[in-house]
Amino acid sequence: MPSHFVFVTDSHHHAAAAEDFGAPKMLTRSHEIHRAMVPAINACKADFIVHGGDVVCGGGSFEMPFDIYLQTIDEAKNAFDGLHAPTYYVPGNHDCDAQEGSFEAFARQFPIPETLDIVEAAPRLRLALANVYPVSPLEDSLGTWTEAHDRILREAAARAYDDRCALILFIHPWVFPQYEAQADFVPGGIVSNAEQLMETVKDQPAVIAIFTGHRHINRIRTYRDFLIIDTACLIGFPLGFREVWLTEDGYFKTRFRTLDLPDLMQASFDRSPVKTNQMWQGEVHDRDTEILIPRLKALWG
Ligand SMILES: [Fe+2]
Ligand SMILES: [Fe+2]
Repeated sequence: MPSHFVFVTDSHHHAAAAEDFGAPKMLTRSHEIHRAMVPAINACKADFIVHGGDVVCGGGSFEMPFDIYLQTIDEAKNAFDGLHAPTYYVPGNHDCDAQEGSFEAFARQFPIPETLDIVEAAPRLRLALANVYPVSPLEDSLGTWTEAHDRILREAAARAYDDRCALILFIHPWVFPQYEAQADFVPGGIVSNAEQLMETVKDQPAVIAIFTGHRHINRIRTYRDFLIIDTACLIGFPLGFREVWLTEDGYFKTRFRTLDLPDLMQASFDRSPVKTNQMWQGEVHDRDTEILIPRLKALWG
């Protein structure tokens, strides 16, 4: 029942980037990042891995030609094939192509949910993997939590509760408002209809946590009796991913693991003021902490 997994997000591969694009991203060095990521994640010997989206730099802001998009997907697929544990993906707003806003080519290499897929990832642990882009991200980059998502989550959570299974929701955009200090830097980034999502999660005691990416910021919030875990990007400072443990007595433990690429880390850090870098990185307890999840304790205890 205890579970150990890796959450990695916003790796933003670009096969042929001419520039790094917005900080902290280091798109010109994404090949190096892929090479360092594979052994670093494998060293965790996790039971499974979840990618939180933006595997590639397709649609929106990157001007990626379609042939480069296909090459980028293939290269990313090759890199992620090097991971030794089962890996699940939720799509990010940049995983579609830049021309049509379609996920079709991406989905051929990376299995992604249609709306909300429920997978049995470990004993008494299920994952709800969300695709919040029923409309192309080129038109709606934030994504939307729809009635269909809500219904599937409610049904899956009720079943999980009956089976004494914990359920974790994975969704690319944020679901919980930022604090004001962050608003200066990257406003928004919250999925449309987040209020309904949060109401549903409040109602469903099998949902023990929500994991997000997208804003490239480490943050952990306890809300009522569950956690909201936002994770920074792999493509630039703080250049890492999360290792997570859930224990039978209901504890969540996490360590933010950075890639061993000191020059690249410094180059990304040097692109932003210290205060901005501190926002990406989060406070110590946004990276490394141990928290009791009352819902997990009730389900597994
Ligand atoms: Fe991203
Ligand atoms: Fe994103």
